[in-house]
Amino acid sequence: MSYRICLIEGDGIGREVIPAARRVLEALPLALEFVTAEAGWDSFQRTGSALPEATLEAVRSARATLFGAVSSPLNPVAGYHSPIVALRRMFNLFANLRPVISQPIATSRAGIDMLIVRENTEGLYAGRERATADEAVTERVITRRASERIVRLACQQALQRRKKVTIAHKANVLKATCGLFRQVAFEVAREFPDVQAEEALVDSLAMRLITEPERFDIIVTTNLFGDILSDEAAGLVGGLGLAPSANIGLEQAVFEPVHGSAPDIAGKGIANPLAAVLAAALLLQHLNEPASAAKIRDGVDSVIRAGCVTPDLGGTATTAKVTNAVIERIR
Ligand code: NAI
Ligand code: MG
Repeated sequence: MSYRICLIEGDGIGREVIPAARRVLEALPLALEFVTAEAGWDSFQRTGSALPEATLEAVRSARATLFGAVSSPLNPVAGYHSPIVALRRMFNLFANLRPVISQPIATSRAGIDMLIVRENTEGLYAGRERATADEAVTERVITRRASERIVRLACQQALQRRKKVTIAHKANVLKATCGLFRQVAFEVAREFPDVQAEEALVDSLAMRLITEPERFDIIVTTNLFGDILSDEAAGLVGGLGLAPSANIGLEQAVFEPVHGSAPDIAGKGIANPLAAVLAAALLLQHLNEPASAAKIRDGVDSVIRAGCVTPDLGGTATTAKVTNAVIERIR
């Protein structure tokens, strides 16, 4: 079986970490075919489009996509839209999955193994905004359909893990939107008698993520809450340099490191490639190649334990050195 994989480097360190992840993938005994495509600020400046039609075609043609990072201007620029947000919308990548796992480094807490499942298409990010000089309104859209499919996916994931799902909401205040999410979540959870479903108010959950992170298995929640909780959780296990994520739809899936284009270190050869490499492992897991995915994860773990890490993790290794070390272990 041969898989076609679309690679989008993007901007900044995306151009360093995606080639690194590609080299790791190429070291595996798998038949992979790569197609490369462009997106981001650089693409916008050269071609007038942050997400050219050829890139959409490449994503469509592939089994899965590995995306680096793009730079977005701080002030709005006419015609520029974040390509990753556009990809999520266009391909209906309704689920954002963020594994949060303890790492063998001093800045990581021990005993954590959770998966945050975030609804990726609606909520406060639905884009329904209006403003006058004196009042601004953002509408929060929650639908039965999107809530059902995200909670179903969370429960399916739970069956392969510790079988526990925490439904995070704020239904005591947001009665209409979180009320619907909560109600639908428990309806769906009843279809999974082997899965233990519990609920948590998102503010107290944010605290418990700090005080007792070991007790969580899967957390499922709406878009903005998931965005915040998942960055918080990444901070418990060593931060951006090691955090991968998956955007899953029915037809397509896009995998990416959580970090951005890191203009402060771009071009210096010191970007940590491991988040992108771990995103490649998630991609292989999604393609139902769990043995190869595990090989990558074990390789990364061993390299970190050996102290072969980039400056963000307190080491002195370069991107190339870390990548070579992972490849050596995989072979
Ligand atoms: P960032 O994640 O790019 O960087 C934050 C800090 O973490 C910087 O000091 C950076 O050097 C460090 N860092 C990040 N990834 C690293 C890695 N792999 N190895 C070593 N150090 C790393 O976030 P920031 O600075 O807020 O945004 C920079 C640009 O990236 C902006 O234009 C922003 O819009 C974009 N961005 C893009 C994202 C995406 O494409 N999904 C996500 C987040 C930000
Ligand atoms: Mg975020």
